[in-house]
Amino acid sequence: MTVNTTVTVRVPAKVNLQLAVGPGREDGFHDLVNVFHAVSLFDEVTVKDAYPRRQSPLVTLTAGGELGSHLARVPLDESNLAARAALSVARESGRGRPVDIHLEKNIPVAGGMAGGSADAAAALVACDRLWGCGLSRERLLESAARLGSDVAFGLVGATAVGTGRGEILEPMSSPGRYRWVFALSKRGLSTADVFGEYDRLRPDAPAPRADPALEKALAEGDAVALGRSLSNDLEPAALSLLPELERTLAAGRGAGALGALVSGSGPTCAFLVGGDEDSSVVAEREAAVVAALRGTGLCEQVVAADGDVPGATVL
Ligand code: C5P
Repeated sequence: MTVNTTVTVRVPAKVNLQLAVGPGREDGFHDLVNVFHAVSLFDEVTVKDAYPRRQSPLVTLTAGGELGSHLARVPLDESNLAARAALSVARESGRGRPVDIHLEKNIPVAGGMAGGSADAAAALVACDRLWGCGLSRERLLESAARLGSDVAFGLVGATAVGTGRGEILEPMSSPGRYRWVFALSKRGLSTADVFGEYDRLRPDAPAPRADPALEKALAEGDAVALGRSLSNDLEPAALSLLPELERTLAAGRGAGALGALVSGSGPTCAFLVGGDEDSSVVAEREAAVVAALRGTGLCEQVVAADGDVPGATVL
């Protein structure tokens, strides 16, 4: 029998197509209607048996990638969700052994694209495989939901609606393929700070509701209608904390994007540039949006990606 000593899992970023936010709950979270869409910006998480063997710590972390200043924001201690994911698999299965985890990052850090949550989803799958735990899909989804509101989506991928605090997932019909451009900010925003600013701006927030126009656009694969129905209740809060994002959004819209919004709690801005139409039209629109965003001088990086794509996958 061959025993794995290394497992690598690829996991996508998400953009929110709708993020409707209710009032603050007693547990400090907010009820959401959160339409997640996985896009082809991937982190790769490699979990390796520690060599030479050691008793502790159970987990060490390293990070690499071409993310410029973003990489310095990745915590490399047990506050990192990927490390906490490994510890939770060890606890649940009783089969943990010391490992070194490497995060190869392409997903913006503190960017509103659930990069930390994606790494945690990947670490759950990788440790389960490396240690031969055989945890069921349900157990992994439960562990994911305990780790954070966006972690379960990293396991599932594609397009799904999250309710509760975002962790109760239902797949959505979305047969179309979409092309996106993402503007990575030079700064990060803390999710908790953005929700706090939301509470300040919207003390009277109503209960969140799904948007039927968005559901219809997705079911029909209609990129123009999708562009029109993108919405994010956290956007005013992110703009209030980082006003320069207004200029980023305006630049992409002015260059012809079909829709634009702050992704999740930001500050990454997402621009829909096409669907299943003539690829040369989409390429032209993409080039114009990319050039306009680069021209603002506000972006750390501008990258393009496709959606949707599957969730965490063992390579
Ligand atoms: O669940 P996660 O760890 O990603 O949440 C980070 C922070 O974002 C929470 O501590 C909370 O302040 C805020 N949050 C929220 N309501 C949600 C999800 C997150 O208020 N549904």
